[in-house]
Amino acid sequence: MTADAHFAPGKVILLGEHGAVYGEPAIAAAISLGVTARTSPATRATFVPPATLKGAQGQALKTAVNRAFELTGRPAVRLELESTLPLSMGLGSSGALSVAVSRALLASTPSRSRLAKVDALALEMERTFHGTPSGLDHMTSNRGGIQYFVNRRPRALSPRRPFDIVVALVGERPSTKLTVQQLRARVQRWPTRYRRQLKEIGLLVKEGAQALSHGDLEALGDIMNVDHGILAGMGLSGSKTDDMVHQLRALGALGAKLTGAGGNGGAVIGLFTDASRAAKALTARHVHNFVSHFEREP
Ligand code: PMV
Repeated sequence: MTADAHFAPGKVILLGEHGAVYGEPAIAAAISLGVTARTSPATRATFVPPATLKGAQGQALKTAVNRAFELTGRPAVRLELESTLPLSMGLGSSGALSVAVSRALLASTPSRSRLAKVDALALEMERTFHGTPSGLDHMTSNRGGIQYFVNRRPRALSPRRPFDIVVALVGERPSTKLTVQQLRARVQRWPTRYRRQLKEIGLLVKEGAQALSHGDLEALGDIMNVDHGILAGMGLSGSKTDDMVHQLRALGALGAKLTGAGGNGGAVIGLFTDASRAAKALTARHVHNFVSHFEREP
């Protein structure tokens, strides 16, 4: 095997986080930032972890890569990773790294079966990170574009009108695993009320998929606002994320919401027809942000 680089993108969830864990639909979109896995020939399977990753995160990464090595017969390669994605912010960094590593280790698989094999191996890695992932992150990373998940199966969704998503980062948040567990405890304690909210999130996702394919960005923005309200009502937002949602709306966003597991930190997204002015304004306020552009698939 010669030296080889395999890139996999991160993602934002446009609609449907948390509902997805309970089998409701969701819409996720691949972003330009991601993880690159590089392999080169070696005498045995060797992982060189990024020097910047220490402690629990470093250990979790080693466990996941070791699982992938085991499941692929410990190939004689040296594996290195490079990431442009902020970690643990709701942007699918573990999903992207699982897909990048899986692509690198399965590079010799025939192309007709590669998508499914990468899905399966990346899911095994994701399980070491999250326990019971919905699978949305790694499947979006593996396919790119905008993916509409119904019954946990992805289908490409092509937006009728182009749009921008501003991703604003508002600081640290708890792990997805912990936030999902804490919500599960509330769902178990008050099933009627919480299941009703999760079902409503599922309905919003369906309306959002229609709005996207009809090019009704105003409706999509409104749906994102309502979705954020439900997530906040279920205890998944806080003052930092709520404040950024309000800042984005004041900057002209058609809609804004937290994205990913939430928990008063991480990433907040805003929907715009053109986000350049809003992105500049956030940068002037020292808010770490970037823009992803989406348009109809050719
Ligand atoms: O914050 P992230 O990127 O780990 O996304 C979590 C999305 C959830 O719906 C909360 C969990 C899942 O497995 O889908």
